[in-house]
Amino acid sequence: MSTKPQSSSGLEGIIATRSAICEVDEDNCELYYYGYSIKDLAENSSFEEVAYLLLHGKLPNKKRLESFKKKLLNERNIPEKALDVIKRLPRDTDPMDVLKIAVGDLQTMDPDASLNSNEANMRKAIRLIAKIPTVITTHYHFIHGNIVVKPHKELSFASNFLYMLNGKIPDDYESEVLDKSLILYAEHELNASTFAARIVASTLSDMHSAVIAAIAALKGPLHGGANERAMEMILKIERPERAEEWVRNALLRKRRIMGFGHRVYKKEDPRSPIIKKLSKGLSERRGERRWFDISQIVEKVMNTEKGLHANLDFYSSSAYYLLDIPILLYTPIFVVSRVTGWVAHIMEQYKDNRLIRPRAEYIGPAKREYIPLEDRS
Ligand code: SDX
Repeated sequence: MSTKPQSSSGLEGIIATRSAICEVDEDNCELYYYGYSIKDLAENSSFEEVAYLLLHGKLPNKKRLESFKKKLLNERNIPEKALDVIKRLPRDTDPMDVLKIAVGDLQTMDPDASLNSNEANMRKAIRLIAKIPTVITTHYHFIHGNIVVKPHKELSFASNFLYMLNGKIPDDYESEVLDKSLILYAEHELNASTFAARIVASTLSDMHSAVIAAIAALKGPLHGGANERAMEMILKIERPERAEEWVRNALLRKRRIMGFGHRVYKKEDPRSPIIKKLSKGLSERRGERRWFDISQIVEKVMNTEKGLHANLDFYSSSAYYLLDIPILLYTPIFVVSRVTGWVAHIMEQYKDNRLIRPRAEYIGPAKREYIPLEDRS
């Protein structure tokens, strides 16, 4: 009888694979992408540099970065046929469902779709990273009857997203806040959506299919959907003086406060203080401190009452709100960034693949005799 390792609810604490991409050091509340600390990357790099790092395992030199940026720039547009598919979707289609459909549609037009070499996958990865922002803003403008803003030919990745969304060149500080938030969201080891992508890749299915599975997983409110619900909660609280009582009542009713807690970080999520500082800076520049002040009170109550800490989603919500990003786009922006981590893990899985197939501990009925239909009561 083989001795199977004990199951753990939600695979908590289970080491499911080996990976060189990301190290989550929960004891010291640190996070590293290929050995670089998230603090150093957020402080000194651009999202394009970090995307390159995740795809290639090292930071680019100037020449390689310029060439990578050019590749992304050249792939920002989406084909007319893909636009038609997005246009035909019901107006109230969840933007995360639009992304699943659009990635599937882009796959039908990708010249490398049927190839699975590392070079072909690298080209597919760059197209997905470059095109997903355009899908999101195009769909947003369609459903609001606006003129679609085509991708800018020069702006940086983060500036281009804000430009396509708002139709105007964003100011440097706003672009910098989004750029840094994209760095923070880019990769996080074996979170649910990345694990979903690796499972699909381990069957030797294709990259687009693995990304669609990851988008599906990220949509859930216990994972990527938390940033939207956190902002909805902050708006419901409405004023700082209502925050403490509101949260206490919610906890009394056993409600989950979105943006708090983490399966791995039982102390601080190292990304939270970085995005919190950005949200504070935005609120001071905009002279709109209300949402940040509410957030700080909610954070204090959660810390003292539940011993729970804010995760990346919590202060991302007020930061995005202050960037005038519509709430229903917060989780799609998580996709804009995390697709870099997903494709890195997909390519790593292909490199040293073994089908991912864990076991289940059987807790069903004991063995029993078969009773023909006519004899069943
Ligand atoms: C992300 O994995 C990743 O790396 C994910 C991510 C990434 O970058 O990919 O970091 C991004 O998904 C962050 C998490 C976003 N989700 C939320 O903010 C949703 C709210 N948080 C939770 O539901 C919860 O904290 C999880 C899902 C994040 C983690 O939950 P666990 O590890 O399964 O813990 P649990 O649900 O077993 O909770 C343990 C206790 C419970 O209390 P008891 O029932 O034992 O009394 O803590 C309580 C929970 O009720 N609890 C909360 C809570 N989170 C946990 N209570 C109130 N509000 C919360 N947010």
